[in-house]
Amino acid sequence: MLYSRGTNQTMNMLLLLLFTTSVHVVNCQRCKIIYGSFITADCRKLQLRQIPQNLSEDIDVLDLGENSFVTISNESFSRYRNLKVLKLDTCDIESVEAEAFIGLWKLEDLSLANNSLNISTNDGLFILRNIPNIIDLDFSSNMELADKTGHLLYPGAAFQHLKRLQNLTIDLYGYPVFGPEFKQLPLKYIKFKSCYLKHLKNDTFKNFPATLSEIHLSKCLSIQTSKIGVNVLRPFSSLSILDLSWTCVTLTKGLELMYPLINRTMHLVDLSHMLNPRTNKFVVPNTIILTAEMMKHLNTMCVQILILADNNIVDILPLSLFGSKHLECLEHLDLSGNRFGLSSLKYELPFFAPKLSNLRVFDFSYLALTYLDAVYMPATTNADQYHSRSHTKKKRKHNYCEGETSVNLTIPSKLEVLRITHVLGAPPFPQLTLNTITSLRYLDMSYYDIKCFPDIFLYNRDIRLEYLDISGIDCELYFKKKNLPYFPVLKELYMRDANFYRAIDKNINIFKNTPNLERLDLDSNYMYTLPSSFIMHLDHLIHLRLSENRLSHIPTAITDLPRLKTLNLKGNRIFTLYPEFTSWLDAQQVKLGYFSLQIRKNDFFCSCEYRKFVRWLNSTMVHLDNKTYYCRLSNGSLSNTNTVLMNYHVIFSNCDAFVWLRVGVILLVSFFMVLLPTIVIYNFRWRIIFFCYRKFRGIVESSLKLNYDYDVFISYGYDGYTWVLETLMEQLETKWGFRVCVEDKNFISGRSTFEQIGIAINRSRQIIFVVTSDFMSKPFATYEIDRTKEARSSRSLQNIIVIALDINIEDIPQELQSLWSDVVVIEWPRHSNDVNLALDNLKTRLLLNF
Ligand SMILES: *[C@@H]1O[C@H](CO)[C@@H](O)[C@H](O)[C@H]1NC(C)=O
Ligand SMILES: *[C@@H]1O[C@H](CO)[C@@H](O)[C@H](O)[C@H]1NC(C)=O
Ligand SMILES: *[C@@H]1O[C@H](CO)[C@@H](O)[C@H](O)[C@H]1NC(C)=O
Ligand SMILES: *[C@@H]1O[C@H](CO)[C@@H](O)[C@H](O)[C@H]1NC(C)=O
Ligand SMILES: *[C@@H]1O[C@H](CO)[C@@H](O)[C@H](O)[C@H]1NC(C)=O
Ligand SMILES: *[C@@H]1O[C@H](CO)[C@@H](O)[C@H](O)[C@H]1NC(C)=O
Ligand SMILES: *[C@@H]1O[C@H](CO)[C@@H](O)[C@H](O)[C@H]1NC(C)=O
Ligand SMILES: *[C@@H]1O[C@H](CO)[C@@H](O)[C@H](O)[C@H]1NC(C)=O
Ligand SMILES: *[C@@H]1O[C@H](CO)[C@@H](O)[C@H](O)[C@H]1NC(C)=O
Ligand SMILES: *[C@@H]1O[C@H](CO)[C@@H](O)[C@H](O)[C@H]1NC(C)=O
Ligand SMILES: *[C@@H]1O[C@H](CO)[C@@H](O)[C@H](O)[C@H]1NC(C)=O
Repeated sequence: MLYSRGTNQTMNMLLLLLFTTSVHVVNCQRCKIIYGSFITADCRKLQLRQIPQNLSEDIDVLDLGENSFVTISNESFSRYRNLKVLKLDTCDIESVEAEAFIGLWKLEDLSLANNSLNISTNDGLFILRNIPNIIDLDFSSNMELADKTGHLLYPGAAFQHLKRLQNLTIDLYGYPVFGPEFKQLPLKYIKFKSCYLKHLKNDTFKNFPATLSEIHLSKCLSIQTSKIGVNVLRPFSSLSILDLSWTCVTLTKGLELMYPLINRTMHLVDLSHMLNPRTNKFVVPNTIILTAEMMKHLNTMCVQILILADNNIVDILPLSLFGSKHLECLEHLDLSGNRFGLSSLKYELPFFAPKLSNLRVFDFSYLALTYLDAVYMPATTNADQYHSRSHTKKKRKHNYCEGETSVNLTIPSKLEVLRITHVLGAPPFPQLTLNTITSLRYLDMSYYDIKCFPDIFLYNRDIRLEYLDISGIDCELYFKKKNLPYFPVLKELYMRDANFYRAIDKNINIFKNTPNLERLDLDSNYMYTLPSSFIMHLDHLIHLRLSENRLSHIPTAITDLPRLKTLNLKGNRIFTLYPEFTSWLDAQQVKLGYFSLQIRKNDFFCSCEYRKFVRWLNSTMVHLDNKTYYCRLSNGSLSNTNTVLMNYHVIFSNCDAFVWLRVGVILLVSFFMVLLPTIVIYNFRWRIIFFCYRKFRGIVESSLKLNYDYDVFISYGYDGYTWVLETLMEQLETKWGFRVCVEDKNFISGRSTFEQIGIAINRSRQIIFVVTSDFMSKPFATYEIDRTKEARSSRSLQNIIVIALDINIEDIPQELQSLWSDVVVIEWPRHSNDVNLALDNLKTRLLLNF
């Protein structure tokens, strides 16, 4: 009987084959065939509308996900008798014909997730009865559009033939009915998706087999708390993994559900984020105080991984969390995202830490100290001491770190991973004596809100730390005291947002302590420079991130790093990559076979001098983060490297004229060397000098194709406003006849100030910075300085003058000092007697351009 049916089918199949190949032209790209220990056909996302019938009959794995089949017709797969894995997820399947899945005798793994099938109807029946050897079935997310109430019947009759089914992923909604047939299934793993379960009663799962060891009942958002039976997990006598995360029944109920699991050994209990869904953002979620009573079931269990994250726990009372009879079972404890303070544990932790003898991972992140801590913290007594002391020693008041007692933090002896990131309002630890830190490999304490960095006492040779994240902690807190120990095997160091520029200013090289780094992250540290001595000894460095800083040059020491493979310079102020550097990059790419360079969001300059960089972008094999970058042309307007490349010869046609600039300048200067003494001797008027100078300069500049709109651009802070507009402008414009550009007079509103500054500086011969003490607080100050640097290096700007108006030369801001080698500084006199002398000085400087 069976046999004759089989031959019949073969006939049908052959006919079908002829039919489909000759008539239906399936418009698609080819499936990818991958030969390995299995033959895999990858037809994902090919916009198929029919099951392909021309693939090899031998394929073991067929992935048809993310196509659009709508209906699966009879004998669609009968050709592929070898098939073990079939993926039909996200295929818009709405119905399945009776014999659609026939022939899949060997199928072990089937995914039908994210379609529109109804397992309670014939569809479910047709599929299930034809795949008797299935082990792993995913029938989930098929009810997305359906109304999620009512009784959902799982067809027990169809399921009972699946004698090998172990993994089942399925939807759960309304009032599900699992028939007695389920008891016979050899199920091990069940995951409920699209869970809209209403009641979680004692008998909901009563027909599930005792073999189940893993249950995922997460994200069930509609369970009515009053309809929860505490015995619901009773049928699962060999449960090892329980995931109730994001199921909104509150942690308190979740802990009650542990009742049938008393005295059990579990691998994982995930009770994270069990908050009630917030219907309204003003509703304050329930707070939870863990008590010994709540934890009484859990505390009898031996749990390896316990996750209690994101539950709005505001306090932990004695003998609750650490009242467990089996603390030695705990290997991974996640308490992140709650609101209790570290001080809640201050008394308990030292006591119980030795008992947590197998704890390897401790996650304590995203905590914020709450008002409750005021009660449990020894704040009152300490504060009293503090005040009485502050009478005798006033200085203490400013130094938060002093006056606190040191803490001996006992770390569980096998702890390897400690995450205490984003902790707010933690008590200070002025001194940490870590006795048993030897096992710690991973420490993430980024954005840990501390006012003083602890003195860490430990023996150097014992430090096995490989990963350290101290981002968001001001590096001044530790480099001052030089209390970062020596890390012999540290491989990854993250120091973002750490104000690292301060360490550079003070020349304190903390990387001396980390000679074996492979990854260094210094994102967002306001760095203007990174001295060679800081990183040149890091021979093992592979990844370096310097993004979001203020570098205008690439730190030279980078070329001393032999193993560097990725370099991130995004968001700096780099205006070009010099040929020495690009050739090093190319060499690294050849040597290591890969180099990744990120340089988006910089201030590149596409001028004659830097055209080599633009060409390099066109030719290099180095992996860049973008094919084109914004860059500024020599006339100040914004373009991008792609456009520049396409018009390369037009834009750079008169570059060589720049060689003549030097000749011109030399000629000009020599001319005045001769003319000036003569004029001075004969007491000629300045006007004649101006006249000659202008004429001559005009000739030189027009032959160089340089043209300017202004003689002088003036940059000034708010305090300099009156002086510039009333005194200086009067001198320059009216008396001396210069064409002057100042922001407050020449800029038009409505256009980007950044752009106008760029253009103005590029179209001015000279620039005068009128520096007052508030100069750097002006929003565009750094930008003007950067533009000046660029204009200077492209030689369009001939002269930079700094007038120190109300400050001393040594107080001139750092940023301006970076132009030092190029500028003339005039300290403006405070007595009116000396002003004429200063004016003469200024006039000469403006005229002579040096
Ligand atoms: C199968 O048929 C389709 C459409 O006729 C064609 O595009 C594709 O290349 C064929 N694949 C193989 C493996 O022959
Ligand atoms: C598919 O097979 C079933 C059972 O053999 C048959 O009743 C049905 O008509 C077939 N469907 C089509 C479209 O041939
Ligand atoms: C499910 O299908 C929808 C469209 O049918 C798609 O947008 C979504 O990404 C799919 N989800 C998954 C998890 O594949
Ligand atoms: C699925 O089929 C059952 C039985 O026919 C029916 O009661 C239920 O409403 C169907 N569900 C959906 C979402 O169509
Ligand atoms: C069942 O699921 C578990 C967990 O996802 C997985 O580790 C296991 O390999 C699966 N078993 C089969 C037979 O697919
Ligand atoms: C569920 O089982 C518990 C423990 O056996 C029992 O106290 C409770 O009354 C039962 N709930 C219902 C609704 O039967
Ligand atoms: C759990 O173990 C304790 C002590 O080992 C025992 O007294 C208690 O009866 C056990 N409870 C259950 C429900 O097995
Ligand atoms: C810390 O431990 C050291 C030695 O183990 C001991 O001398 C010191 O008194 C302890 N400090 C505190 C505050 O317990
Ligand atoms: C690449 O740069 C161009 C302009 O230079 C920009 O429009 C584009 O968004 C950038 N692409 C990425 C992925 O950043
Ligand atoms: C700058 O030069 C480019 C090309 O040489 C030109 O397209 C652009 O309009 C110029 N911009 C200004 C502001 O002159
Ligand atoms: C950019 O590269 C292409 C192809 O390698 C080449 O044809 C073109 O001339 C290059 N452009 C410049 C400006 O070098």
